[in-house]
Amino acid sequence: MIPEFPAADTDDEFPVRSAGPDDLAVIYEIETAGFDEPGRWSQLSWAAELTGGRIVLLAGTAGVITLQVVGDTADLLRVVVLPQARGRGLGRTLVARGIAAVAARGAERVLLEVESDNQPALGLYRTMGFTDIDRRRNYYGTGRDAVIMQRELGEEER
Ligand SMILES: CC(C)(COP(=O)(O)OP(=O)(O)OC[C@H]1O[C@@H](n2cnc3c(N)ncnc32)[C@H](O)[C@@H]1OP(=O)(O)O)[C@@H](O)C(=O)NCCC(=O)NCCS
Repeated sequence: MIPEFPAADTDDEFPVRSAGPDDLAVIYEIETAGFDEPGRWSQLSWAAELTGGRIVLLAGTAGVITLQVVGDTADLLRVVVLPQARGRGLGRTLVARGIAAVAARGAERVLLEVESDNQPALGLYRTMGFTDIDRRRNYYGTGRDAVIMQRELGEEER
């Protein structure tokens, strides 16, 4: 069951922590509430994230992010916040904590791809310093483009 959340947003209320295999059920609940088909990840995909050396962070039971680091480049693979917990800074907190985690693993930049009409995600990433570097036509299907975004990590973040 998805709980209701009070209006305030604090780290105390939604503590961010590393997720493990035991968190699969709560993560999948966030995924199914937060993403419609056909873009929704399967439970199997999330299980692979949790066992595959990725950085997976949970904010309470309301949001989740997963990233990977390969060499000096990180990929932000997914960030999802429960619909009823959006607009309170949780997405921003998760991206910030994810960036800090990949920087600690030696990443010098973060890449991501996002559907070109996903205004909340584009807004989130742009306000966090990501810039558009490319566009892949029909990446998500006919007429559905991907925007590739990047953020260089400054010396002080590494
Ligand atoms: C994208 C998403 C994670 C944002 O989470 P959130 O907790 O609502 O985001 P925040 O409250 O931290 O907002 C941070 C910034 O994002 C932008 N933003 C958030 N919601 C927005 C919206 N509906 N429209 C435009 N910009 C938006 C704003 O710039 C906002 O900053 P502001 O509050 O100072 O204006 C959430 O909408 C979500 O889970 N969407 C479905 C999954 C998804 O598309 N994930 C991304 C692709 S993997």
